[in-house]
Amino acid sequence: MSNIVWHDHAVTKEMHAEHKKQKPCLIWFTGLSGSGKSTIANALDHELYRRGQHTYLLDGDNVRHGLNKDLGFSDSDREENIRRIGEASRLFVDAGLIVLSAFISPFRSDRQIARDLLPDGEFIEVFMATPLDVCEQRDPKGLYKKARSGQIKYFTGIDSPYEQPESPEVTINTAENSVEQCVAQIINYLVEHERIK
Ligand code: ADX
Repeated sequence: MSNIVWHDHAVTKEMHAEHKKQKPCLIWFTGLSGSGKSTIANALDHELYRRGQHTYLLDGDNVRHGLNKDLGFSDSDREENIRRIGEASRLFVDAGLIVLSAFISPFRSDRQIARDLLPDGEFIEVFMATPLDVCEQRDPKGLYKKARSGQIKYFTGIDSPYEQPESPEVTINTAENSVEQCVAQIINYLVEHERIK
């Protein structure tokens, strides 16, 4: 880090936000594989777009094809995965966007690091509380089956841990609610906390 000097930008975060007529923030989805993170994040992204908000969605499987294609699923690789995504998300928030990030992000400490990158109120943790047995029944990618038969090692919820958030801003249960209801729940939170109108 020595010999590197931080440059202040002429166009600030506040100016980007004002330009887009919105309050930027990071909506962070965490939960097991198959818990509905991508589905709900995509549906919320579409609803925010419909309402005229400027958004960007970062999603686990896609980011792992590009930015993080050098990373696997060891604890330290997951930590680095989330560190990079936290930093990338922060850059998009600086650009004035409402960012939606959907990653398992199994470790509390890594999510806390991402939270600490932003001012109070700008990190909104959405916990996908779908129970493991429901995720495993859905098994949309057939990965739980492979994990149970030992074809995949260190699969979250099977032989790699998932640490539930202690005080998430929003808790979603896709086993009991429709996609529309889940999206409405998050929209209500954003309106009540004056993030959107
Ligand atoms: S995280 O743990 O580092 O946050 P991330 O959200 O990026 O994970 O990627 C999870 C996706 O990778 C899952 O939805 C699944 O499709 C795939 N995957 C492949 N192997 C594993 C594994 N061992 N554990 C969890 N997910 C895996």
